[in-house]
This record gives sequence, structure tokens and C-alpha cells, in this order.
Amino acid sequence: MFLKKNDGEQSVDEYIIRKATSRDAKGIIECMQSVMDEKQYLIGEFYMFTERGEQERIRNPDDLTLVSENNGTIVGVLTLQRGLHKKNRHTVNLGIAIKSGHRHLGIGTRLIQEAQKECRKRGIEKINLEVFSTNLAAISAYTKLGFRIEGSRKGQFIIDGKYVDDVLMTYYTRDQEP
Ligand SMILES: CC(C)(COP(=O)(O)OP(=O)(O)OC[C@H]1O[C@@H](n2cnc3c(N)ncnc32)[C@H](O)[C@@H]1OP(=O)(O)O)[C@@H](O)C(=O)NCCC(=O)NCCS
Repeated sequence: MFLKKNDGEQSVDEYIIRKATSRDAKGIIECMQSVMDEKQYLIGEFYMFTERGEQERIRNPDDLTLVSENNGTIVGVLTLQRGLHKKNRHTVNLGIAIKSGHRHLGIGTRLIQEAQKECRKRGIEKINLEVFSTNLAAISAYTKLGFRIEGSRKGQFIIDGKYVDDVLMTYYTRDQEP
């Protein structure tokens, strides 16, 4: 799948959206770490997997990792992690990070739409995510893609000395909610 953006007068950047392979592990780690280094959007400050651990995660059939590649560099990562237990196997947790300089070009939208399609195919009923209440761009993106706020955990985080709520958002892949 290709996404094109007019950049300035002449050049056209090309972004490929595809499923990750284990060869992408290093690029995924670099992309995630660069977003973590901004310290504004993601809870972790250090990416939790080594290259080997990341490769194993990518190969796990219960998980799905999608990437956006631009000129051979991974600039966007979306992960879905399926519930581990019988009681929550119908759900996944979604995480997404687009590198600075590549945002607001439609990449996040395409990655999430692809994830929604894949969840429907796999019989996943509910896509959950958590987002800082300060991350208005992300909340707006999720809302446009059909996610709804289910609740929030007040003052769950402290970012730059200020309390920030943890907003819980959900997308149901079936027309009817339970
Ligand atoms: C949040 C994020 C995933 C959205 O992906 P994206 O590719 O930047 O977003 P898109 O270009 O698909 O835009 C979709 C909508 O998001 C919102 N949005 C995206 N960037 C925005 C910005 N800088 N300011 C305001 N709204 C913005 C808009 O509503 C936009 O719709 P529009 O194009 O009609 O204005 C991406 O910006 C990102 O990874 N940010 C940093 C990390 C992060 O916040 N991860 C999520 C943690 S929960």
C-alpha cells in the first residue's frame, strides 16, 4: 500500500505500509526510541526489547506489527498485542508511534485502518488503547477512526511536573457493542 505526499514544490515522498518482518527489528527499535526520547507521548523512556526480543515479538502469531517505511527507513510502527487469557482473547491493545517529521501526513490513519481490517479478519472484537489526556492530536486521530473514550484514570501520570490523565479508548470491530 502506498501513500504519497506532496512535499514543497517538487518532491514526492513515498511511504509504504506493510507488515513487519524480523528484519525490521532494528529499525523498529530506532523508531520507537526516537519517539520515546521526546518524552511527551509514550510512557516508557527506553524501548523494552533487544533486537532479538523484538524479532521474537514480531514472529509471535498473536501479535501484529505494522510499519511505515520511507526511503528504506522505518518511520512509523503500530503494534497489536492480543489478550493472553481465555477471558480477553477477543481483545487487543494497540500502540502506535510515528517519528517526528513524518506526522500529520496520514500515516497513522493508514496504519490504524489496516489494523482495524486485520482485527476484523482475525475475529478480534475490541481494540483498546491508552493515551495521555494531553495528547490531543492522537485523541483526535483515534476519534476520527471510530474510537470512543471508555473512561480515564485521573492523575495517572506526571509529565513535566503536571498530573496527566490516562484516557482509555476503544474501537469495536463489530457493529454492535456488548
Ligand atoms: C498520534 C499519531 C499516531 C497520529 O498519526 P499521524 O500520522 O500523525 O496522523 P494523521 O496524519 O493520520 O492524522 C489523523 C488526524 O490526527 C490528528 N492530528 C495528527 N497530527 C496532528 C497535529 N499535529 N495537530 C493536531 N491534530 C493532529 C488530526 O485530527 C488528523 O486529522 P486531519 O488530517 O483531518 O487533521 C502520530 O502523530 C504520532 O505517532 N505521534 C507521536 C506519538 C504518539 O502520540 N503516539 C500515540 C500514543 S497513544
